[in-house]
Amino acid sequence: MKKILVTRKLLQSNEDRLKTLYDIRLNSNDELYSQKKLIELSKDCDGILSALTDKLDADTIDKLPKSVKILSNFAVGFGNIDLEAANKRNIAVTNTPEVLTDATAEIGILLILGACRRAAEGIKSAQASDWKWSADYLIGKQLTGTRLGILGMGRIGKKISKIAKSLGMVIHYHNRSKLSPEKEDGAIYHKKLASLLSVSDVLSVCCPASKETVNIINKETLEYLPKGAVVTNVARGDIVDDEALIDALDRRKVYAVGLDVYKGEPILNPGYLKHKSAFILPHLGSATKETRTAMANLAIDNLEEFFKTGKCKNKVN
Ligand code: GLV
Repeated sequence: MKKILVTRKLLQSNEDRLKTLYDIRLNSNDELYSQKKLIELSKDCDGILSALTDKLDADTIDKLPKSVKILSNFAVGFGNIDLEAANKRNIAVTNTPEVLTDATAEIGILLILGACRRAAEGIKSAQASDWKWSADYLIGKQLTGTRLGILGMGRIGKKISKIAKSLGMVIHYHNRSKLSPEKEDGAIYHKKLASLLSVSDVLSVCCPASKETVNIINKETLEYLPKGAVVTNVARGDIVDDEALIDALDRRKVYAVGLDVYKGEPILNPGYLKHKSAFILPHLGSATKETRTAMANLAIDNLEEFFKTGKCKNKVN
């Protein structure tokens, strides 16, 4: 029986399934393992079912026991894993695409609505019973007719676009390459990021974090946005230079932000906390029972496929 280290506690049904398939080393206290502990616990393991909270950098991967052949990441993003280091060690890396598209897009839309309609301020006032209705109370930005810039029109970006279109938004996007007209579904392509930003009344960051996208929303690029734009991020904190975004909020260049992901999470840059127009969530993108169950099942399927065939359709390296 193959031996698998499962670095984070999963939902019960997923752990039950794992128990029938493998000799598993579970994390029943859901402790966040240090890199050292993760290496120690991987002893004699054939694979690791990892999570986005595990920093599998080159040094950690280099020190993994030789027995480890696969890192099955319980996430669509795999920015927590150094793919080059995994390649050097001939370790397969897999992810969980598709199954979390809808749940993550729902949060993407919540960020847009929450930021545009001043939900953070509204919740605070309602909880304190400190408000009275008036014609001009907490007036926000209506979405109908506004331009939504999608940075990264992958599965999640497309689903956000579809919902946003039904809310009357006009969709623009930037990708490395233009999609087919069928996949674009009426969205307007911008070859250059600057061009997309210049028409983004609302920006939705949906692209993966990679060496190319780290801090691409920065002091310089934020200047392309129309004044009073709204910036939302459902992808990864690494894509945004926090200081630059907070400065843009301070200057009212940016009207509001809607964020689910952060550099160095769970710690947030304190600059966001002082802005009442910051609608912030604690990385809830895929957090529904259906989706978390499906993600873990897919991470297990990936292990199964890999151990049976030596290949995996969700291999990313
Ligand atoms: C969630 O953030 C994921 O990448 O699955």
